[in-house]
Amino acid sequence: MKKRKVKEGIFKVTPWEVSGKIDYDKLIKEFGLNPLRFLPKQFNKLPLFRRGIVFAHRDFKQIVEAIQKKKKFVMMTGLMPFGKFHFGHKAVADQIIFYQSLGAKIYLAVADIEAYNTRNPNMEELRETAIKEYLTNYIALGLKPKNCDFYFQSQRSKDGKKANAYYSLANLLARHVTFNEFKAIYGEINPGKMISALLQASDMLHPQLPEFEGKPLPVVVPVGADQDPHLRLARDISQRIKIYKFTQLSSTYLKFIPGLKGIDTKMSSSDPNSYVALTDSPKQVEEKIKKHAFSGGKGSVAEHRKLGGNPDVDVSYQYLRMFFEPDDKKLKKIHDDYKSGKLLTSELKEYLIKKINVFLKEHQRKRKLAEKQVDKFIFKA
Ligand code: TRP
Repeated sequence: MKKRKVKEGIFKVTPWEVSGKIDYDKLIKEFGLNPLRFLPKQFNKLPLFRRGIVFAHRDFKQIVEAIQKKKKFVMMTGLMPFGKFHFGHKAVADQIIFYQSLGAKIYLAVADIEAYNTRNPNMEELRETAIKEYLTNYIALGLKPKNCDFYFQSQRSKDGKKANAYYSLANLLARHVTFNEFKAIYGEINPGKMISALLQASDMLHPQLPEFEGKPLPVVVPVGADQDPHLRLARDISQRIKIYKFTQLSSTYLKFIPGLKGIDTKMSSSDPNSYVALTDSPKQVEEKIKKHAFSGGKGSVAEHRKLGGNPDVDVSYQYLRMFFEPDDKKLKKIHDDYKSGKLLTSELKEYLIKKINVFLKEHQRKRKLAEKQVDKFIFKA
């Protein structure tokens, strides 16, 4: 990856590159998103929603309505099968499983064609990672086979009618977009990226085809903010194609989960010291947090006691906020104590390490059981 000098206020969020210190208010304005403010009370169960980590949306009202009126809707998202499954991925998994519990039909695409075209042309490896890392962890986290259509972009379905419908749609969409639009949306573009974008549009739209859910219906696509260009493209062309009357796509946007090295870094599958994986051992967790988790604390205990720490940039505190401390009162106390200097960095880290390891012990036990369940998800349809 090219290193860019990060100037204050300059950041980049595209499907191919995320860099700089991201200003989410600016992003909302630039992309034309809506802040996510009022949610039905069920959503409060998830810290990700309650604490604003899922921060923006497009056309989410129709999903709220479907939930309230108990109407059918779909949740569709995709994954790039690279590296270890870490807590950045878990943030998406939590949402998938939550929507399934609300009664949504789940569509999950393994973006193996996109991965092949943009990063790693080893199909065997991509497939193995998708199953051993992603699917197995999804199942351990609570994903159920019922109402779940898990597929590979390279092998949509054993049913020829369904497969044809999915690939035809990707190809027909090409007629409804110009090269200049591609350049305007993506900047840098090439044939592999164009194909990936159109296939992703088909991922998001095909649940509404006669061969799948049978008719137009609301579909919500929960993604990271870097995926919004794909949504803009799919939303635009979906309304231009006349042979189908697609219901406009809804989407929600997740903030980037910070990497261990700092609040403005990302968990990157190519650097094991940037993330905590869901398969890490207790020792690895302890070492990663103690050695690598960026601290908002002061250099010495005396100084920290006097001046206090900064929870806003403290990665350990942020992980508690995003994943490990569901109790709002306890979280607030940790925040305030850290800020006042009463709570030391070492104590905060100890607390987090314990929380992570309690979670991982149970998760890894479930993961063993999940390994035996994967067949219930693959090539069902
Ligand atoms: N492009 C997505 C990523 O980089 C993966 C993806 C493929 C996807 N198809 C999708 C995401 C459909 C959401 C919906 O992670």
